[in-house]
Amino acid sequence: MARRKYVVGNWKMNGLSDAVAEAGAIFGAAKDYPAVDVALCPPFTLIGALVAAAPGSAVGGQDCHAAPSGAYTGSVSAPMLADAGATLTIVGHSERREGFGESDADVKAKAEAALAAGLSVILCVGEPRAIRESGGAIDHVLVQVRGSLPDAFDPTRLAIAYEPIWAIGTGLIPTVEDVAAMHGSIRAALSERIGAGAQVLRLLYGGSVNGDNAAELLGAGDVDGALVGGASLTAAKFLPIVAAGAGLP
Ligand code: PGA
Repeated sequence: MARRKYVVGNWKMNGLSDAVAEAGAIFGAAKDYPAVDVALCPPFTLIGALVAAAPGSAVGGQDCHAAPSGAYTGSVSAPMLADAGATLTIVGHSERREGFGESDADVKAKAEAALAAGLSVILCVGEPRAIRESGGAIDHVLVQVRGSLPDAFDPTRLAIAYEPIWAIGTGLIPTVEDVAAMHGSIRAALSERIGAGAQVLRLLYGGSVNGDNAAELLGAGDVDGALVGGASLTAAKFLPIVAAGAGLP
C-alpha cells in the first residue's frame, strides 16, 4: 500500500514572532510538492500565528498534557492545542522522555489525550547510544512502541518517529541498513498488534536529517518520512528535505 511521504519540522524551543515569515515561506513552497505532507511544530507560543499565516497548513504542538484541563501550572493540554488551530502533536520526544522523566505510560496517556482531542499524533521512540552499541536497539525500541501506543487508534492519525537519541542534533546518522531493519521491526510489531492497519501507519526517521542525507534516509525500507529538528528552522534547509521526499516513489 502506498503511504504518502510525511516531512515534519520540530522547532523545539526556537522561534520568536519574526520566525512566522519563515514558516510562511516553508508552507508556501511546500505547495510545489503536493505528494508530500508537510507539517511544522513550533513552540506553543507561535501555533496561533503560524495557523493565521498559513491557513489550512498542518501546524502542531511538540507535547501535550494527558489531562484536558486542571491544576498543572505551565502545561498545555491537547484540547488547547486544537483550540489554537493545531491539527497534530508530537508526543514522547526523547528530550521529554529523558529531560522530563516521561515513561512509556505517560507517553501513551498523552497520545490518547491528543487523539481524543481530534489531533493526529507523532509518537517518538529511540535508543541511547549505549544500547545501540550493545546490540539491543531493536528490542529497546519495540518495548517503547508496545508501551507507548494507545490501546485503540486510527492508523491514519498516528505516525511513529524512530529517532536514535545519539543521532539527534549530533550530525551522526545510522546506516541505511540499520534504519531499514528498525523500521521493518517496528512495522512487524505493529502488524501483530493492529493487523492490516500497520501498512497504513507512517514511520518517520528523525535525527540529523538534512538536505544532503534526506534522499538516502527517506529511501530506506519502511521509511515514510522524516522528523527534522535543526534543519527545519529555515526554508533554505528544510525545503530540500521536502523535495527529497517528493522524489521518492
Ligand atoms: P535534529 O532533531 O534533526 O536536529 O537532529 C531531530 C529531532 O529531535 O526531532
